[in-house]
Amino acid sequence: MKKLMSLLMALALFCAALPALAEEETPAHVLVVFFSHAGENYGVGVIEEGNTARMGRIIAEQMEADIFELVPVVPYPEDYDACLEAATEEQRTVARPEYEEEIENWEQYDTVFIGYPIWWGQIPNIVHTFMEAYDFAGKTVIPFNTHEGSGQAHSQKDIEALMPEEATVLQGLAVRGGRAQNDPEGTGADVAKWLKDIGLAE
Ligand SMILES: Cc1cc2nc3c(=O)[nH]c(=O)nc-3n(C[C@H](O)[C@H](O)[C@H](O)COP(=O)(O)O)c2cc1C
Repeated sequence: MKKLMSLLMALALFCAALPALAEEETPAHVLVVFFSHAGENYGVGVIEEGNTARMGRIIAEQMEADIFELVPVVPYPEDYDACLEAATEEQRTVARPEYEEEIENWEQYDTVFIGYPIWWGQIPNIVHTFMEAYDFAGKTVIPFNTHEGSGQAHSQKDIEALMPEEATVLQGLAVRGGRAQNDPEGTGADVAKWLKDIGLAE
């Protein structure tokens, strides 16, 4: 009888631990990739974490996604004017700046959010380096960005044109940099509504 009781108790403990085990073992199928520039920025002063990074973390939290930040091997200047110049130069030369590390287990993700600030009306070149490096066939791709007046600029159309036919590109979301930086609740509400609108949340 004692033996049976201990067996039943062991079984009960095992069953109680099952949900936690299952949670740990289910890898995320959504990935949020972004580039973002900390330091001095337009309208927000000197910031420790970039505006797009803030937006990306909110999306990742709501989607229970993994995050991969495109960290430039050669950092952009902290100074705003110097960064404007660096961006002008890389656009002029169609540069493909390198970023640190690579994404592990790319195959595991079926949905990839791609985040960036608008730089001179464009997607920063380092994001092109990333988009050219991976195979997006079969993936659902969703752009998101921050800006200070340009909205998405031409970036939605650019990403649609760059992706292979076998990828599905959903409507992206543009948020003002100052809002992403200083109003996490407002940004969270924008993101929640958008995810619902594009069918990724209930
Ligand atoms: C090099 C550079 C160029 C920019 N060009 C534009 C632009 O064309 N249109 C716009 O609305 N904002 C522009 N901005 C403002 C950024 O898009 C905005 O501050 C954004 O939120 C920055 O995001 P981050 O902190 O993630 O880098 C520019 C900023 C920089 C640094």
